[in-house]
Amino acid sequence: MENVSVISHPVVDRYLTHVRNKDTSTATFRRAMSNIGIVLAYHALTDLKLDETEIETPIQKTIGYQPGQEVVVIPILRAGLSLVDGIVNFMPEAKVGHVGVYRDENTHQPVNYYDNLPSGIDKALNLVVDPMLATGGSGSHALTFLKENGAKEIRFVSLIAAPEGITRLQKDHPDVPIITAAIDERLNEKAYIVPGLGDAGDRYFGTT
Ligand code: PRP
Ligand code: URA
Repeated sequence: MENVSVISHPVVDRYLTHVRNKDTSTATFRRAMSNIGIVLAYHALTDLKLDETEIETPIQKTIGYQPGQEVVVIPILRAGLSLVDGIVNFMPEAKVGHVGVYRDENTHQPVNYYDNLPSGIDKALNLVVDPMLATGGSGSHALTFLKENGAKEIRFVSLIAAPEGITRLQKDHPDVPIITAAIDERLNEKAYIVPGLGDAGDRYFGTT
């Protein structure tokens, strides 16, 4: 699929198994999300611009590198928060913005209830983060909002994507690469991802 990277790693597959398993405790679920977040960040930041900087090792001068642009992580609340811990562990200087969107249970349409974006997203590498890309309604809504606020360079970071959600994002935002750990089979009649992991927000926050 164009513009979609599916990370493939045996340790990630093990953590994915933890989060998919309905008997996994909240503690284990959280640790798995945190660890997968690190790997997703590694892949989402491969194009980060760098500036050269001269440093001195204990032996001699050499050239090192520092970020040449800011990284802004924008979780889609609530469930997007589940991957932030891992991402900012990997990139501790990243700024974090927030976009609050929930999916109406009946219409499955996104409803926006909060947003707070830091300054500088026009020049930053922006990672929009949501573990579940289902119909793609929430993701597409968040990406449109970011672009309206000046964001130009954006990656969409998800954990599990449905083919329907990928198709929607590719149609609405063909310029935004998608990084995910799995592409599942389909959506069910309630627009949940099959086999998926259930409700990501409820499982991460222990609110089932
Ligand atoms: C979930 C998930 C995504 C959205 C995906 O959020 O975290 O944001 O559904 O579905 P879509 O691709 O069909 O839009 P939810 O509405 O459950 O809110 P929550 O994160 O606050 O639990
Ligand atoms: N949101 C979730 O949390 N899970 C799904 O399977 C679909 C949307």
